[in-house]
Amino acid sequence: MIIEGHGLKRYYQRGVETVKALDGVDIAIKQGEMVSILGPSGSGKTTLINLLSCLDAPTEGTLFVAGKSVAGLSEDQLVEVRRGTLGFVFQQFHLLPTLTVTENVELPLLFLMRKPNPARTGEVLAMVGLGDRAGHRPNELSGGQMQRVAIARALIMDSKILVADEPTGNLDRASGEAIFQLFRKLVKEKGLTIIITTHNTTFGYEADRVITLEDGKIIKEENSWCARRDSNS
Ligand SMILES: Nc1ncnc2c1ncn2[C@@H]1O[C@H](COP(=O)(O)OP(=O)(O)O)[C@@H](O)[C@H]1O
Ligand SMILES: [Mg+2]
Repeated sequence: MIIEGHGLKRYYQRGVETVKALDGVDIAIKQGEMVSILGPSGSGKTTLINLLSCLDAPTEGTLFVAGKSVAGLSEDQLVEVRRGTLGFVFQQFHLLPTLTVTENVELPLLFLMRKPNPARTGEVLAMVGLGDRAGHRPNELSGGQMQRVAIARALIMDSKILVADEPTGNLDRASGEAIFQLFRKLVKEKGLTIIITTHNTTFGYEADRVITLEDGKIIKEENSWCARRDSNS
């Protein structure tokens, strides 16, 4: 298991009210697995993926990520766990408009004062289908292409786990579907572990496993038809 959480709770205090955003979740994710977290708005998807990716700490519960116990770690210690282990993709892409595609993808390396390797950047761009867009700027790309740049940026550090919170939330149906197919390819060909939140039930089932949340609790866990299709082929 690359991620294993037991009894995960995340409570927020809103005035006198306690919001139980996550209320006792057990979850285990294998290396090389693609998992979707489904559920309506407010069900706790972002809260859960933030815990699993060490962006936030649980109020209660135990959590192991890539073999390390992370509950109770300080923010500095969480940064260390994230670095090199986790890559992030967001609904809003978060690309820098003045930088080219190549420069956006290489940004995580610059933050760590590492010299980009053009061959490696080219390889990652080819992996996401943007080999011919290296010199373009974000405003010259479609939404689906911008999200691919963000995925390439998440891949450049060779992280084992890729997490994506509503990555298709700003995309039309066809571009969204293509992004899920790209994730599927990365799992199959690169052995990545990918965790995605979505409220799109059609795309959600492109994963190996679908976990459905409601009011901060898991109400359903299914192996998807897609996993069966791939293992039969
Ligand atoms: N920082 C916060 N402070 C207070 N309540 C929060 C905070 N973040 C999320 N919540 C609440 O926790 C619940 C789950 O939110 P969230 O995880 O964002 O759900 P989802 O991603 O499924 O829409 C919601 O009721 C939301 O209002
Ligand atoms: Mg959310």
